[in-house]
Amino acid sequence: KQRVLSGVQPTGNLHLGNYFGAIGNWVKGQSEYENYLFVADLHAITAPHDPTKLASDTYTLAALYLACGLDLQHSTIFVQSHVSAHSELTWLLNCITPLNWLEDMIQFKEKAVKQGENVSVGLLDYPVLMTSDILLYQADKVPVGEDQKQHLELTRDIAARFNHLFAKPDQPVLKLPDPLIRKEGARVMSLADGTRKMSKSDPSDLSRINLLDSPEQIQYKIKRCKTDPIRGLTFDDPERPECNNLLTLYMLFAGKSKEEVAAECQDMGWGQFKPLLMETTIAALQPIQEKYQAITEDKGYLDSVLRDGREKAQAIANQTLADVKAALGYYLPV
Ligand code: TYM
Repeated sequence: KQRVLSGVQPTGNLHLGNYFGAIGNWVKGQSEYENYLFVADLHAITAPHDPTKLASDTYTLAALYLACGLDLQHSTIFVQSHVSAHSELTWLLNCITPLNWLEDMIQFKEKAVKQGENVSVGLLDYPVLMTSDILLYQADKVPVGEDQKQHLELTRDIAARFNHLFAKPDQPVLKLPDPLIRKEGARVMSLADGTRKMSKSDPSDLSRINLLDSPEQIQYKIKRCKTDPIRGLTFDDPERPECNNLLTLYMLFAGKSKEEVAAECQDMGWGQFKPLLMETTIAALQPIQEKYQAITEDKGYLDSVLRDGREKAQAIANQTLADVKAALGYYLPV
């Protein structure tokens, strides 16, 4: 089986973008692959973070992975910081990565502007840590949202550079992964502005629907979300980004095709569509929320899942790390 690797940062609540761009796709494809899915808690400190929340956010996110339907038969779930090879490989790859490759990253440039003088070396290095996450497991596929595309190109470039510099041409040490970005849901937009992506860092919680939002919150957010005064709802009208986004959410939750939704909604006004979207969203999130409650009632269970995950992950990651060190010429005792 091909191997899949992906992760989400434990920062704040998980929203529909994270679900449709990432976790929902992990769940959908999981039986076809051998999956390694982790909580990216090392990435979570690349921006100023709250130390009193890191552990609980990590726990919540791991519980959500299971609640969304990851099955331990196909998937290994672990916490990034529990496998020290992630940090070690990052150092080794740092030393073969040209600085200007990192300075060119769009996400770095965007976040650096926001953080001003507080930008850390870690923020610049974020994509090399991500590269290490992926290469340690010799992943074939990396399911992510559209915003991670450039980071995955960098991952391939770093792997190719490493192989070129340190491996024999017919015996690559690191595998070049392919991104797995689905067409629909790869870029879920903000409820407040259909031209910006839904994001954990948006100061307004009304801009996103979180997986653990109550039915009342979901109703309120959809009621308040930005729309337009035009009757009849259509996909793909560049003048109506909110309309496209809300129809897409409905399509994804209802499990219908684009054609079906287009036909169903072409004569609707917002007054008719919004209750439909509310109902569908609430119904789709309910089983996830119930499962989340059940999982978090037994803390020992999740801890044991994460301990098992750590062991399985370490076995593979440490092997790759040893191969990388050998290729770099490090002295290793026999
Ligand atoms: P994070 O936590 O920012 O995002 C997690 C996943 O959610 C996707 N995503 C979206 N998809 C669609 N629409 C949106 N509005 C939206 N917002 C976020 C992201 O593309 C991502 O797939 N750097 C990664 C975490 C990471 C990682 C890795 C991923 C660390 N190491 C190795 C893959 C492989 C990130 O951005 O997390």
